[in-house]
Amino acid sequence: MKKLVGIEALAIAVPRRYVDIEDLARARGVDPAKYTSGLGAREMAVADPGEDSVALAATATAQLLRSNNVDPSRIGMLVVGTETGVDHSKPVASHVQGLLKLPRAMRVFDTQHACYGGTAGIMAATEWIASGAAAGRSAVVVCSDIARYGLNTAGEPTQGAGSVALLISEQPDLLAIDVGLNGSCSMDVYDFWRPLGRREAVVDGHYSIQCYLDALSGAYRGWRERALAHEVVRWGPSLPGDQLSRILYHVPFCKMARKAHTQLRLCDLEDAPNAPASTAEAREEQAKSAASYEAQVASSLGLNARIGNVYTASLYLALAGLLQGEGEKLAGQRIGLMSYGSGCAAEFFSGVVGEKAAKRMAQAGIESVMAGRERVSIAEYERIMNLPYEAPDQIAPAPGAFRLAEIKDHKRRYVEGAAS
Ligand code: HMG
Repeated sequence: MKKLVGIEALAIAVPRRYVDIEDLARARGVDPAKYTSGLGAREMAVADPGEDSVALAATATAQLLRSNNVDPSRIGMLVVGTETGVDHSKPVASHVQGLLKLPRAMRVFDTQHACYGGTAGIMAATEWIASGAAAGRSAVVVCSDIARYGLNTAGEPTQGAGSVALLISEQPDLLAIDVGLNGSCSMDVYDFWRPLGRREAVVDGHYSIQCYLDALSGAYRGWRERALAHEVVRWGPSLPGDQLSRILYHVPFCKMARKAHTQLRLCDLEDAPNAPASTAEAREEQAKSAASYEAQVASSLGLNARIGNVYTASLYLALAGLLQGEGEKLAGQRIGLMSYGSGCAAEFFSGVVGEKAAKRMAQAGIESVMAGRERVSIAEYERIMNLPYEAPDQIAPAPGAFRLAEIKDHKRRYVEGAAS
């Protein structure tokens, strides 16, 4: 029998503070409807320098191991996917290993390709386990990032921060990944990048949306070709994409998931054999189907709308949001996942939701993580954004959470919140 491999459990970490997106719109003299319905945002996480990619990754990983009673000697690989690391050489994963006192006998490394970095790590871990090389061991993959464009920029309402830690194993209680069906599409483009030494990303916003949609088309068609060959989906009365119960997208802002879904449907409508003749305009109208978006996409976006872009973690935040609400209902059903990283790389893959998804999601305690946040004013958000990266607010971390305390002799020192 083919070995099942995939996501056994997950946990999230978010900054302690956030702003309401309508407050931000008013402060910038923008109609709040542009941010709420134009971009699909509600709230935006605000990280201070104490909540860097290491602190968020360590906090999420500690929660993952604690709430699922994971024996650390089971872990043979620890990967952090991030595009906002803290050193040109020492990986974020190495800090996480040290802070959590994890055993030495494991591979520890970071993966980087903009927002795609987390998926690169998940596929490395999944295929390592599927190949048999892991010999029964599991992997932890952490997606951790601070999305930062700067004050008064077009990208400002699409910032955010957070981390999702995932346990990858032969017991995929959350999602058994369809190993080998993945479709990839990569291109050398300058749509979004962050030159060395800069804290803020540089972005060609509208072009980046077009790059995302082009790469999605290539990746989805690659997956569909393999999924058709394996009879996972079929051409028939319904389109192949419609045969997935839900489709999750990389979510730089929630409205992007709607644009992505329209593009995916357009791929099916354009390629359908024996489809009745229709014009490009008619196909575009059909691709926009609000009913299809509501049925397949909308229910996954709750956490993304409250946290904002989390680069590598955004797709997995959508997975957490989906399974938190619908884990029980979706057990045994196949979903699609579309990862995108600027620069650019896209990967479409699929998996089957596990029977224990609802139970595992209850262990993640996401509602209590979200309830622990504090709403701040725009003046406070601007103060935090203006803090130098080496000057974190001196706040005691919550029990079980980590924070950067100081940088001395070019070394970063982190503290852990005492158990309550
Ligand atoms: P913008 O130019 O300020 O906004 O930038 P806009 O004029 O395009 O308006 C946005 C939407 O609001 C439009 O909707 C407007 O019609 C609507 P659309 O036509 O697109 O459907 N709108 C309104 N709606 C209601 N009431 C109103 C109103 N006014 C306008 N009054 C942009 C928007 C997203 C480009 C900008 O915020 C940006 O540059 N963000 C960062 C880049 C980004 O997120 N790109 C996404 C694709 S690339 C990606 O996903 C990778 C990434 O995550 C990085 C990585 O890989 O590492 C970014």
